[in-house]
Amino acid sequence: MRVIRQPGVMQRLARRWQREGVRIGFVPTMGYLHEGHLSLVQVARRAVGRSGRVVVSIYVNPTQFGPGEDLDRYPRDLPRDLRLCREAGVDVVFAPDDQSMYPGLPEGRYSTYVVEEQLSRSMEGAARPGHFRGVTTVVAKLFHLVLPDVAVFGAKDWQQAAVIRRMVDNLNFPVRILVAPTVREPDGLAMSSRNAYLNPDERRQATVLFEAIQLARQKVRSGPKPARQLKQDVARLVASRPRARLDYVEFFDSDTLEPVPQVRPGTHMALAVFVGNTRLIDNAKL
Ligand code: PAF
Repeated sequence: MRVIRQPGVMQRLARRWQREGVRIGFVPTMGYLHEGHLSLVQVARRAVGRSGRVVVSIYVNPTQFGPGEDLDRYPRDLPRDLRLCREAGVDVVFAPDDQSMYPGLPEGRYSTYVVEEQLSRSMEGAARPGHFRGVTTVVAKLFHLVLPDVAVFGAKDWQQAAVIRRMVDNLNFPVRILVAPTVREPDGLAMSSRNAYLNPDERRQATVLFEAIQLARQKVRSGPKPARQLKQDVARLVASRPRARLDYVEFFDSDTLEPVPQVRPGTHMALAVFVGNTRLIDNAKL
């Protein structure tokens, strides 16, 4: 497995692979890898086959964090990530630094961004202004450097995947986007690098996100329910956990992300909850 730090080196290698007709599968990550990420690597490998190359990027992208968010304390462990990638059969880890990705960022020489203006307005976009501008910008840059045929994203970040699909479609990136299912802990908590922030008590209470999904699922089984009523049920459930605070819960169409007034099996649900100081998200088709 090769580790590449320089964007130019990554792009030259990807161009050589392209000339040779080698298919490239790509898994963009912010590192601190867990089984969820490794499942994305498997999907990428299956998509490009043994003759293809799988690239994982590890880069904590500063432009998708707002002021006061957890950029500085975001968990990082590159040696462990490299070991996991090697064991998972990754061909190349691309791990650039801020200076090479955004030369001159704080001083103002970096001034070009990619903005999706429809799907990124609600939910995560409303709660974290500027977040999706950072995501689409870095993913567009990574696509230019890795030149993937296929890129794999996790369903845990459902809205992110929808925004990236839209960007790829609107900007004619020749990349097929695959979305792989959320991987969960045995008690239902969706795997996330941010779970590392939780103390044991918070970790126990963090199951409330999955319980909220199950509650909504069970309520719509007997027939459509008003979204307003389900939001109240979810808010009550979350409030019953002393360390948990609901940020938002939304019921929407899986493709358009448009909110729906009536919720039925097949409607998509997403929520964000602070558990202590840690903000967790989850979503599922009901
Ligand atoms: O989902 C993530 O880990 C990040 O948002 C991504 C797609 C790697 C962009 O920084």
